[in-house]
Parts: sequence; structure tokens; C-alpha cells
Amino acid sequence: MAKAKTTYVCQSCGGTAAKWAGRCGHCGEWNTVVEQLEEKLDAGSNRFSSWSGSRSGCIALAAVTGEDHARITTGIAELDRVLGGGLVAGSVTLIGGDPGVGKSTLLLQTLALMGETHKTVYVTGEESPQQVALRAARLGRAQAPVQLLPEIELDHILSELQKESPTVAVIDSIQTVYSAQLQSAPGTVAQVRECAAQLTRFAKSQGVALFLVGHVTKEGSLAGPRVLEHMVDTVLYFEGEQGSAFRMVRAFKNRFGSVNELGVFSMGESGLEEVSNPSSMFLTAHEHPVPGSCVLVAMEGNRPFLVEVQALVEDAPTPNAKRSASGVDTNRLQMLLAVLNKHAGIVAFDQNVYVKVVGGVRLSEPAADLAVLLAAHSSLTNRPLPEGLVVFGEVGLAGELRAVADAETRLREAAKLGFTRAIIPSQCQLKKPVPGMTITRVNRIDAALSALRELKLAA
Ligand code: TYD
Ligand code: MG
Repeated sequence: MAKAKTTYVCQSCGGTAAKWAGRCGHCGEWNTVVEQLEEKLDAGSNRFSSWSGSRSGCIALAAVTGEDHARITTGIAELDRVLGGGLVAGSVTLIGGDPGVGKSTLLLQTLALMGETHKTVYVTGEESPQQVALRAARLGRAQAPVQLLPEIELDHILSELQKESPTVAVIDSIQTVYSAQLQSAPGTVAQVRECAAQLTRFAKSQGVALFLVGHVTKEGSLAGPRVLEHMVDTVLYFEGEQGSAFRMVRAFKNRFGSVNELGVFSMGESGLEEVSNPSSMFLTAHEHPVPGSCVLVAMEGNRPFLVEVQALVEDAPTPNAKRSASGVDTNRLQMLLAVLNKHAGIVAFDQNVYVKVVGGVRLSEPAADLAVLLAAHSSLTNRPLPEGLVVFGEVGLAGELRAVADAETRLREAAKLGFTRAIIPSQCQLKKPVPGMTITRVNRIDAALSALRELKLAA
């Protein structure tokens, strides 16, 4: 094939140049110039054809059925859950995560399971077929009916996929694939974008469910252009803490489902195992209540689970006290300490404060505020929280406690796991009583602290 002409286009102003430059000659922005294929305007070109199908006029919404979004189960319930109930034919799912977190393992396991009933192709650009086979053997699936394609050139991949016409295909990883039409090296913005666009168009037109593996940068976002996230239907992040066996798959964007869902796995000797009941996974069993530990009922999607928030507060030997948080936002921690100071009169400016969420869980919902505050307070005063206590609630800057969603679901889950007391915001709506749970409702942070004192006196 004749080599297509390429131009260099500024991503900021759209200005073009014949050569690459670090700074756009049109608008003066730095690092915005990217190589692009020059489009010939011949009639046969479909490079810019729409992905949503073409019609010559409007159609009534009511006349369109959603039937063609039939779900194909992946055989892994936790993955189906984050995908919104299974894979959709013609959908493109980008799965990102740190190196070694288990992306290749998860996808190989998925293909091995789906291979029993569907045609599957695994395009491996990072590892040799032998390495993939070794992994399959480790997973106990050496004989899995999966087609391997060790290839990184886009046109070859596309023609092989066309030939095989699989139901599901995996590209591991999008950063290794390159189009011979572009001069840029694989993994560059130009290559990643062009290859992802062509693969996406292929998936849509052939009805292939496609997984793209994407690397994350040091900052934790997907490498390559953000446009990758716009192109695909679903963006999943695979997360896990170093040294912890737990792995979580979180949907960041999903055109076919909710983004609140969380899939939980544990990495074992023979691959990833599903953790279908994660409620109690992130609790540590303390023989007696210890200072600085508070149990929170968190929600991920429709799923409540209990996590332990730990805090260590100690005298700072230097004038600049340290605040460090893992699993919760450090700025949020600083704000909570300020609220504690202003509205409960508890000073911590001369204390080092460390907060950690057990099990490598990352809490993003504001419902965690109260637990962080009470854990820090408990460590500061060196007094453990009462046994069997769970809390949740958002803390406002005025010292008020705000309602959080799904209070009843959270309390039921805690009661199921043997917790007997709860401190929650007064505003939380409870339609029915929760059996076995004594609930204290408070509307301010100082009220929460006095409620704690009373609970301890009563105990
Ligand atoms: P891998 O799936 O290759 O991660 P990624 O594709 O995201 O870079 O690697 C998974 C890691 O998990 C690797 O360090 C080895 C480990 N592992 C296990 O502990 N058990 C297993 O059964 C397998 C296959 C891998
Ligand atoms: Mg890999």
C-alpha cells in the first residue's frame, strides 16, 4: 500500500505544519503538535464515517428498539457487574491499570471462559505466545479455546480479526499497536489515537466486543490522549495496592451501565478469584477495641461494605505537623481537622496525623468523613470507640452532619455482620427500624462526640 501523507496538527488551535515542532507556530502552545494522517477526499474513504450508523432522515425514538444491546455474559460475575450486566456486541472497553495489577490475567481468564461458547481472539503485543501460554497454564487453562495473535501492526491485526470474526477480542495493549501510515513511534499520542479509532470503527461495524488494555501514566491517568476515553464505550480502571491481594475493577465511564459499580477480586496462586461478598473483607479483627480505629459502612454502587478507617495522631516533634492519608483525600483530611478544631474545640495543629483505609480501599464518597474524624479523635484522645459501632455521614464546614444516601441498606449490612450501634446524621431517612441496631442520630460534630461519650459511659 502506498504510504499515506501525514501532517502535523496542533491539538489546541488546529493549525497545521509540515514538520513536527515542540511549539505550535500558530498559537504558540507547547507540546500540542501531533502527527495525523492527511485525509484524501476521495469518495471511498470512510475514515471519518460515523460510528452511530447512518440514516437519511430522522426516526422516532419510540420506533428504535434497544434489543440489539443483548448482553453476553463474560462468565465472571464481578466483571459482568461493572460492565452493567455483561458485554455488548460491538462495544469497546478500555481497561487501564498499573503494570502488574492483573489486566492481562483478568482478560485471559475472561477469554478462556468465553472461549467455551464464543470465538475469542487475544492479540498480544507485549508478551510472546509462550508467555501467554505459561500464564494460561498457571491459571489451569492451558487448553482453553482461545486464538492467539502475536502482532502489533494495525492493518495485520484488522485483517486477521476480519478473517477470524470473533465475538470478543482483546488488544493487549493499545500502546504497542502501531499504524504503518504514521511515522510516530508506537505509544505516542498520534499512534494510540489513530489505532484506537480504527479498532473502534472495526468493532462497531463488525459487532465485535473489544477490550483494549491501556497503560496508566505516573500520574495515574490513562496514557495516550484523553480522546481515547471519549472514543470508547466503557472505561474500567483496575486497581490494587502493592502487597495486597485484593483487586478492584471500577467503571469510570459506561455507556451501557452505571459507573458506581465495583468488581472485587483477589489475586491468588492460580489467577484472579471473585470476591462476591466483600462486606467484611476490609475489616481487621481486633481482640479488644483499639484507639484510632473506626468502622464505616461504605457504598459502591448498590453494594454496601464495611471498611475500617485507621488513624494515628502523635505529637509532632517539628513545627510543621504532617498530615498523610492513604485511601482518603489528604485535603479532605485537612478540612476535617479544621472542622474538629473550629466546631468541637479540639486542636491538632501540633500533631502528626496519619489516616489509612484498611485493605487498600480508596474511599471517595463524603460518607467517610465522620469515620475519618472519629478515628482521628479516638487516636488523639487515646480512647477506643465503643465495641460494635459503625458510623457514616458527611461533615460540612459549618460543623453539621449531612445525610448520605442508602442509610437503611448500610445499617442492615452492618447489623448482618454483628454490629449493634450506629452514629448517623439526623437527616438520614429511615423508613423501617433496623433490627438489632441501636441508632444514635446527631446533627453536629460536637453532638457526635458527646453521643460517643454517652455510649462509652453506658457500655
Ligand atoms: P499481569 O496480569 O501480567 O498484569 P498486567 O497485565 O496488568 O501488567 O500480572 C499479574 C501479576 O499477578 C504478576 O505480577 C504475577 C501475579 N500473578 C499471580 O499472583 N497469580 C497468578 O495466577 C498470575 C497469572 C499472576
Ligand atoms: Mg499485561
